[in-house]
Amino acid sequence: MLMNKVETALVNSPPRRWLQRFYETQVLLRFGGRVLPGARALEIGCGSGYGSQLVLERFGAARVDAVDLDRAMIERAGRRLARYGDRVRLAHGSATDLRAALDADDGGYDAVFDFGIVHHIPDWPAAIAEVARVLAPGGRFYFEEVTAHALARPIYQRLFDHPTGNRFTAERFLVELAQHGLVVLGSVTRIRGDYLLGVAAKPVPDSE
Ligand SMILES: C[S@@+](CC[C@H](N)C(=O)[O-])C[C@H]1O[C@@H](n2cnc3c(N)ncnc32)[C@H](O)[C@@H]1O
Repeated sequence: MLMNKVETALVNSPPRRWLQRFYETQVLLRFGGRVLPGARALEIGCGSGYGSQLVLERFGAARVDAVDLDRAMIERAGRRLARYGDRVRLAHGSATDLRAALDADDGGYDAVFDFGIVHHIPDWPAAIAEVARVLAPGGRFYFEEVTAHALARPIYQRLFDHPTGNRFTAERFLVELAQHGLVVLGSVTRIRGDYLLGVAAKPVPDSE
């Protein structure tokens, strides 16, 4: 589900960008560290591309592919990220079908980033399944999510558009990660369970 005008303005506002750069990034780095040199990263629901900029500059990815369901956001991201040249590839499509959007192979990415997008997807478990599929063994999933607690608040209901059913709590989100074989390295909730930040890893299979 796409953002409405109010959410678009809020998500792209200077306070949110400040929070993302100076708080969320620090928490995610504490749990998951920087990616390995040469890492290929994916950002799902990239919006206007600020997260992909952080993925390159702060998390240390060599390249980032970024996908969003909203063509207008992809255009904005294209303008923001043009300076990175062929280190960035943008695609229109859904995080629930990364093969269609990006021709993404199994295990094709060393890291996947979710800056507040999975709660926009009605079939959000399908997006988690895709994250688990495209991560390479040893790869990491960095997530920042808005939970059912926040979405139920009157202010959220009045101002924003989100799927009305199949919402997740922080606990339910973490259970879904485990069901897809992802091991949580660290996570934290904020504002009475409204927000969830964390990092999960796809285990490397034991060698025989
Ligand atoms: C709250 S915004 C976050 C945008 C960006 N990650 C940021 O932090 O600025 C959610 C984004 O998810 C996108 N989105 C919604 N459903 C999607 C889907 N199924 N696949 C990919 N992107 C989706 C929206 O178009 C929107 O850009």
